[in-house]
Amino acid sequence: ELKENTVIVVFGASGDLAKKKTFPALFGLFRNQFLPKDVKIIGYARTKMDHEEYLKRVKSHIKTPTKEMEEQLDAFSKICTYVSGQYDEDASFQNLTKHLEECEKGWKEANRVFYMALPPSVFTTVTDHVKRNCYPKNGLARVIIEKPFGKDLESARELQKAIEPLWKEEEVYRIDHYLGKEMVKNLLVLRFGNAFLGATWNRNYIDNIQITFKEPFGTEGRGGYFDEFGIIRDVMQNHLLQILTLLTMERPISFSAEDVRDEKVRVLRAMPTIEPKNVIIGQYGKSLDGTKPGYKEDDTVPKESRCPTFCALVAYIKNERWEGVPFIFKAGKALNEQKTEVRVQFKDVTSGIFQDIPRNELVIRVQPNESVYIKMNSKLPGLTMQTVQTELDLTYRRRFSDLKIPEAYESLVLDALKGDHSNFVRNDELDASWRIFTPLLHYLDSNKEIQPMEYPYGSRGPAVLDDFTSSYGYKFADNA
Ligand code: BG6
Repeated sequence: ELKENTVIVVFGASGDLAKKKTFPALFGLFRNQFLPKDVKIIGYARTKMDHEEYLKRVKSHIKTPTKEMEEQLDAFSKICTYVSGQYDEDASFQNLTKHLEECEKGWKEANRVFYMALPPSVFTTVTDHVKRNCYPKNGLARVIIEKPFGKDLESARELQKAIEPLWKEEEVYRIDHYLGKEMVKNLLVLRFGNAFLGATWNRNYIDNIQITFKEPFGTEGRGGYFDEFGIIRDVMQNHLLQILTLLTMERPISFSAEDVRDEKVRVLRAMPTIEPKNVIIGQYGKSLDGTKPGYKEDDTVPKESRCPTFCALVAYIKNERWEGVPFIFKAGKALNEQKTEVRVQFKDVTSGIFQDIPRNELVIRVQPNESVYIKMNSKLPGLTMQTVQTELDLTYRRRFSDLKIPEAYESLVLDALKGDHSNFVRNDELDASWRIFTPLLHYLDSNKEIQPMEYPYGSRGPAVLDDFTSSYGYKFADNA
């Protein structure tokens, strides 16, 4: 249920995440009337600035192509205020509480949502100070937190230990923004709402599943953060693993948050840890034409860095449904295109009447250009028995041309305001996902002789990639 009488406090309000994601999402919800009617939004950060300067920053990442949107943005500004303060002193948080109370004047109850758009270094200090100084006396408290949730199993558990005594699990909303993406939210519907997919969704019919994340840009300017984490922690342990979980979990009893997350945890626990022999890592160098810099040329990156900006790896699930099926993950920065997609390759049909007929493949494109299509064989119309591979194609912008696809953050912030945890990461789920990756991460971190393979900025990744994926059974179609 959406609670009236709510104040949202955005910590880290002058940071990148808040400007690029949090505020545009809040504005999107505001203008479509999804926010509670009496909502107020307080930005909080260390930077001292006046109201005008603050609004300028908030507005800088919000596009208003129409007059109507400009007016809506003005109306939105009216519910926004700013408080500057430190992240580690009680006085600052007491000052914030004073401001909260002013916002809440005349309300019967006062619900407070604390959105932590903060780097991990200050995150626990802030949650601690908030709990002691700003916890609502007459209303609900919710705290939204952002990754990274630790760097490995041990640090994730430490973080959890710091949060646990302060906040109840039902007050905590851990964002993995991939869970807010339209196509990711569609996965359970595709699987469990279509009899023909449900019936073939197992090791008897599926040869392999490939999950790919590609970005056409490097870490430009973000090297300081990225170098400490690398591509495996940045997108694989969370975003791609979430996609895998939704693709492979058993049917939940209901769509309720706990039923869905119980099944997610169960499948994660059936995954052995990733073995280094099933992994290749890469790091981008200069583009072939020399115009784009290599990873190590970024000033924010140490010159000797071995940090992977690309990784391909294979995971397995030891249960009756999936035993033996390779799940091939590929993720990289500074590649040739932007694309996140899932390819489910079905087994070859028996030969005999056919020579070399390609496999069925179900492609689920998460972004850009959301679509689901099935590669299907058909007779080529005409007087011969020649076959052709065709597509059953559900492209969203054609089929749903009159519908707007919501931003992931809009969907998640709304869920948090409604108290719906389904698309947030539960504590035990986080633990289970770190367990799968931690031995590999420690192995890569501690073995100094392991060097990532260099690939040119703007390429498809390290040269060995195609051999790697085909060695796990992935077949390239002629027209791939
Ligand atoms: C973030 C990563 O979690 O996801 C970034 O830290 C990455 O490195 C981003 O670029 C990708 O998100 P999206 O929504 O643009 O695919």
